[in-house]
Amino acid sequence: LIELIDQRGGQLSSTDAYDALAHDLGLTEQDAERTVTGGRGQRVSAFKQRVRWARHDAVKRGLLRSAKRGVWQITDHGQEKLAKNTTGIVFTIYETELGTVLWGSAERAAGVIEPGSIDLLWTSPPYPLLQQKEYGNLGSADWLEWMHDLCGLWHPLLADTGSLVLNLGSVPVRNRPIQDPYIERLVLKLIDDLDYRLVDRHFWHNPCKPPTPVKWVAVEKVRVKNSIEHLLWLSKTDHFKANNDNVRVPESPATRKWREHAQRTGKGLGKRPGGSVAGPGFLKSNGTAIPSVLHSIPHDANRAYRQACKQEGLKPHPAMAPQGLIEFFVKLTTETNDCVYDPMAGSLTTGAVAERLGRRWLCSELHGDYLKSGLLRFENCGYPEFLVDKMPKM
Ligand SMILES: C[S@@+](CC[C@H](N)C(=O)[O-])C[C@H]1O[C@@H](n2cnc3c(N)ncnc32)[C@H](O)[C@@H]1O
Repeated sequence: LIELIDQRGGQLSSTDAYDALAHDLGLTEQDAERTVTGGRGQRVSAFKQRVRWARHDAVKRGLLRSAKRGVWQITDHGQEKLAKNTTGIVFTIYETELGTVLWGSAERAAGVIEPGSIDLLWTSPPYPLLQQKEYGNLGSADWLEWMHDLCGLWHPLLADTGSLVLNLGSVPVRNRPIQDPYIERLVLKLIDDLDYRLVDRHFWHNPCKPPTPVKWVAVEKVRVKNSIEHLLWLSKTDHFKANNDNVRVPESPATRKWREHAQRTGKGLGKRPGGSVAGPGFLKSNGTAIPSVLHSIPHDANRAYRQACKQEGLKPHPAMAPQGLIEFFVKLTTETNDCVYDPMAGSLTTGAVAERLGRRWLCSELHGDYLKSGLLRFENCGYPEFLVDKMPKM
């Protein structure tokens, strides 16, 4: 929007801005006619609503202002930002029959991905940490703005039935025994500004997590170990694709005993041990149960990758996601041949899981070194060494 206003002399009436944007984006008549329910229950144009949000957001960030009623003007700050906005480079560095590895920032990679082509966008972004990891982390206010922008870039890439899953960790407030509510802030921004839907919150329980934050857990002893990471499962529409039959887990011993008893005696099911009444499908459950939103997975996966790194004298990625966690969401929200994308793919764990499960996949990552070791997960993974010298610093 800002680029477009700039190209037309720095200010534009709102009507001209809608028309010019629709033209530049190649909006079809069908897209232009799509309506959604507005704040007061009335039907409004989905496209105009999206443009209004973009404009509202740009005003909030000091990039645009209203010159007079109905006229949108770029501010000095907006001009400055625009001047710094460079066109980017994204390299394809490896391909399998199903997948592609891109070397480039998530921001730039979003520009080369077909809109509507992604069924699951899974990623573990760097959190707004107080202690910096080697790949760099932002403070929480900047992080929120950054993640909001990225989620805005990812929204059009998702199929209408697509899902976005963000793996995020808890972050403490400096020198205080409390948490930074950045995840709550992000959820509200994604729903209110970008029209994402919150399908569910899942939790990864890592029993091997050390007792942190050390000061409040181990020294002052006022809190207990925080061994949970959050998985925000968001969707683009209410009609997201998912099938929990694909992720059933073995039933608990107590349930099995009860079910087998009911089957043996033919007396019917009655009440479950917990007091609830079982539905008729229960006897056909085949010894499996619907899983919960809590995933208890120790952080010991990726052993083969670590070994391969050792052999090649490469440093393994410092913050890998467990394969089981990614596998769960890939199976839950996609089918064979659907496309999974991880824009901050680190050591390509997501690509390796998607490849194994027969999904098409895309991985992009900013740091070439992580990709270099990540490619050890794949066969015939000749890394294009010549690119290392030629590659401009990202
Ligand atoms: C927590 S790690 C992801 C690890 C990955 N899930 C794995 O299993 O290896 C976050 C990654 O985001 C990458 N990153 C940070 N900013 C980025 C950006 N703007 N574009 C692409 N990748 C980025 C970092 O280099 C880092 O590898």
